[in-house]
Amino acid sequence: MEEHVLSLLCDPETRFGLELAGNNLRNTATGRIFPIQDGIPLFVSSVSGSNLKYQTLYDRIAPGYDLSERFLNWVKGKPDYRQEFLKELEIKPGTRVLEVAVGTGANIPLLPSDIDFFGIDLSWGMLRKCQRNLHLWNRQAHLFHGEAERLPFKVEAFDCVFHAGGINRFNDKVRAIKEMIWVARSGTKIVIVDELEDARAEVHRHAPVSKRNVEPGSENVRCPIDLVPGEMKDVRAREICDGKMYCLSFRKP
Ligand SMILES: C[S@@+](CC[C@H](N)C(=O)[O-])C[C@H]1O[C@@H](n2cnc3c(N)ncnc32)[C@H](O)[C@@H]1O
Repeated sequence: MEEHVLSLLCDPETRFGLELAGNNLRNTATGRIFPIQDGIPLFVSSVSGSNLKYQTLYDRIAPGYDLSERFLNWVKGKPDYRQEFLKELEIKPGTRVLEVAVGTGANIPLLPSDIDFFGIDLSWGMLRKCQRNLHLWNRQAHLFHGEAERLPFKVEAFDCVFHAGGINRFNDKVRAIKEMIWVARSGTKIVIVDELEDARAEVHRHAPVSKRNVEPGSENVRCPIDLVPGEMKDVRAREICDGKMYCLSFRKP
């Protein structure tokens, strides 16, 4: 692990820094060990509730995810929607970018290659697929296995923080938003994107795998603008992807 990556990591519970100890990371204060497997540090301990449900789902569908996502986007009439939110990101050469819930890394090839990209996800299957994709695309990224609600990064570690496609189903949206703010440098624009109800309804009509896991209307599918802390600046929400998704953005003061 590169020195600059290690210097940005912390124990997500205690926030103490970490050091390398063989093929593990070790909390410098408590000695707690976080293993590194296949080059990916593991920060997930116990997962419960909705997070467990979606971790299990994404682990199962990871191998065919990219193909089925292309099919579902066609069904839902979601052409090229990623550019609509990626253009919101404020990225310059060398910018240190964090994507929370990176999945198979589908946003990575659409971003400039001269950035320092970090991705975290709860699903080990999605991260392994992401690793294979990075190899295919000849792209570099630092990947971590962890929860959005417990980010293993130090305060103000990133110049750009974004999330796309999972927050509607997170166990704790408030905590995940607070964590994104914690790891963002002062002045950073944070961008959060997910689906609105219409798009979910299309999925349920056409994707039996998802239908078994989530019944339409069983979850609260709306833009979490009310969960953004009052002190954030430039809070803005808009519909993208022909009204099928929301894009929420705000700036850390
Ligand atoms: C629809 S995929 C989106 C992946 C990627 N962001 C994209 O735009 O293609 C949602 C991802 O969120 C991840 N996820 C769900 N809940 C999570 C949580 N609480 N913390 C971290 N990742 C989570 C899933 O494992 C899955 O990879």
